[in-house]
Amino acid sequence: MDGEATGERLQKVLARAGLGSRRVCEDLIADERVVVNGEIAVLGRRVDPERDRIEVDGVRVLATDDLVHYLLNKPPGTVTTASDPQGRPTVVQLVPTEPRVFPVGRLDFDTEGLLLLTNDGELTQLLTHPSHGVVKTYLAEVDGEPTPGTLRTLREGVELDDGRTAPAKVTLVQQQASSAAVEIGIHEGRNRQVRRMFEAVGHPVRRLVRVRIGPLADRSLAPGEWRLLTYAEVRSLYAAAQDAGVTATPDAVPDAAPEQAVEPVVEPVVAVRKDPEGDGGPG
Ligand code: URA
Repeated sequence: MDGEATGERLQKVLARAGLGSRRVCEDLIADERVVVNGEIAVLGRRVDPERDRIEVDGVRVLATDDLVHYLLNKPPGTVTTASDPQGRPTVVQLVPTEPRVFPVGRLDFDTEGLLLLTNDGELTQLLTHPSHGVVKTYLAEVDGEPTPGTLRTLREGVELDDGRTAPAKVTLVQQQASSAAVEIGIHEGRNRQVRRMFEAVGHPVRRLVRVRIGPLADRSLAPGEWRLLTYAEVRSLYAAAQDAGVTATPDAVPDAAPEQAVEPVVEPVVAVRKDPEGDGGPG
């Protein structure tokens, strides 16, 4: 049934979803920034949060608690699948079993770092669709001393067996005697892409850590730990994926300055869960 006559007041649903006080949400509606099921909403609109699709400034509002979004710090030696025929540990085993969630995209067995797991199919599709790919930033420890020319090659595009890579943001973070730490931001999601890029330029990867997914970073999660995303973070991911869909051009790869790339952009408001006995709902 359409929630228009019987549902909850739209400003109440928006306020609960973290858009601001009811008064602020009324202003959003009055300013025609809120769309319900494709139509600009008017004050007095009632909605069914389970069924109606609500957007503010073109970004979907999550008005239901059925969707969960976990940010996991994937430890090395885990597979990014729901189950593994070889019986290796999976990332899904590290988060609560109910509701059932799936990883968004893939990290290699030995790759560490940030991984999203969710039952939000729409967000998964947006984030994994090639034309929407948000920038994912990795810190790679590589063999040898990459020269400025090599770094430029990585930035401009490397010939791989499945084609030339799109422009990337590449920063030398630290040079040591026989290895270097390089930060690299890419918006493509090809199989083993970062490792293959560095192999192609003669600097095999020793260790690979994903430190940022679009607007999301979090240094507070130890390997194997997870936390729920806040509503604000989920919204920021939707916004980033939608923006990337429009502007996924070489120029749109944002700066990935080392000191920024490891800082949380959106402070977590939900405590880090070491023991995954969560309550299942964003706070
Ligand atoms: N690129 C890689 O090479 N491996 C990953 O796990 C992710 C990106």
